[in-house]
Amino acid sequence: EQIEKGGYEHFMLKEIYEQPNAIRDTYRGRLLADKGIIKMAGVDDNLDRISKANRILIVGCGTSWHAGLVAEYIFEDMARIPVEVEYASEFRYRNPVITENDVVIAISQSGETADTMAAIKLAKEKGAFVFGVCNVVGSSISRETMAGAYTHAGPEIGVASTKAFTTQITVLTLMALKLGKYKGTISASDFRLHLQALEAIPQKVEKLLQSDKVIKEIAETYKNTRNCIYLGRGYNFPVALEGALKLKEISYIHAEGYPAAEMKHGPIALIDEEMPVVVIAVRKGHYEKVVSNIQEIKSRKGKIISVVTEGDTEVKELADHVIEIPETIESFTPLLTTIPLQLLSYHIAVMLGKNVDQPRNLAKSVTVE
Ligand code: G6P
Repeated sequence: EQIEKGGYEHFMLKEIYEQPNAIRDTYRGRLLADKGIIKMAGVDDNLDRISKANRILIVGCGTSWHAGLVAEYIFEDMARIPVEVEYASEFRYRNPVITENDVVIAISQSGETADTMAAIKLAKEKGAFVFGVCNVVGSSISRETMAGAYTHAGPEIGVASTKAFTTQITVLTLMALKLGKYKGTISASDFRLHLQALEAIPQKVEKLLQSDKVIKEIAETYKNTRNCIYLGRGYNFPVALEGALKLKEISYIHAEGYPAAEMKHGPIALIDEEMPVVVIAVRKGHYEKVVSNIQEIKSRKGKIISVVTEGDTEVKELADHVIEIPETIESFTPLLTTIPLQLLSYHIAVMLGKNVDQPRNLAKSVTVE
């Protein structure tokens, strides 16, 4: 097992650090920036069917569901197709309105999650075109879906999902860009810009991983907290949910993710000098709005841990701690902002002596209801 961990103390840490290469492996052979094209067999073969969809319905569980939420923003932005994202477990037990003009995308790292599988079967019965995004090659879900794209992240052993999330977002981004280009909803110059920006993400993740020391210090300061709030807006709202999920899963600290503006409809009541609030405040994407959310937290004496864009000055003055991410285009910020939140949870869990790779009560793959 030590050999499999490749010198890292835990699989989770190894998998966090594998993300630059995992993302590269995901887009290798698909993203051809010099030619200005995206090649994805599963999408290419069904381009007409998928691009004419009345809507895209995304189903998944846990972290895969969060990747679906990020994809909702990406698909609507780039391909102008309405998207709905649903927990597979809810979808399968209501009476969903699905037509033959719908495309269902099922996201699953393991490809074995029972609820996601049941959702796929239901969607197929109703005549929808079902596309799978899985990591495990040959898994049940990859066989049950009509077409798909693998994430190629390599085996993920840690129960808390890390590289599966960022590679799922990468695949879905490629797909949305491809559809956008085909439909003409993204301009040729914007398309190229996005290809270049996506290609540059792995090296930005590498740079970001060097800020681990700062994150460790933050973990040390807050490891004994009993609660934590995560806030983000737009593309980074799902990242707030994912950040909170990571903390819950491995450190057993109660955490809640919220869209930053929703804070005033409830969570703000929880804020006092004891409450750490992790705020994603990257420069693009409603920056000024998030700054005013931060001011509201500060005036209630909450402790602010902020993920900001390199060179930020405004949030730095307000926050108790800042973690910087390199600049990228707004739609790709989740691929960067997620990483420090993974590390923060990891360090806190290690400091608390928890079983990081196999947290209590959780399973890597939930194959029963
Ligand atoms: C379990 C795992 C999570 C994962 C979820 C969905 O709860 O502990 O990490 O996100 O299942 O799994 P899937 O394999 O379908 O992505």
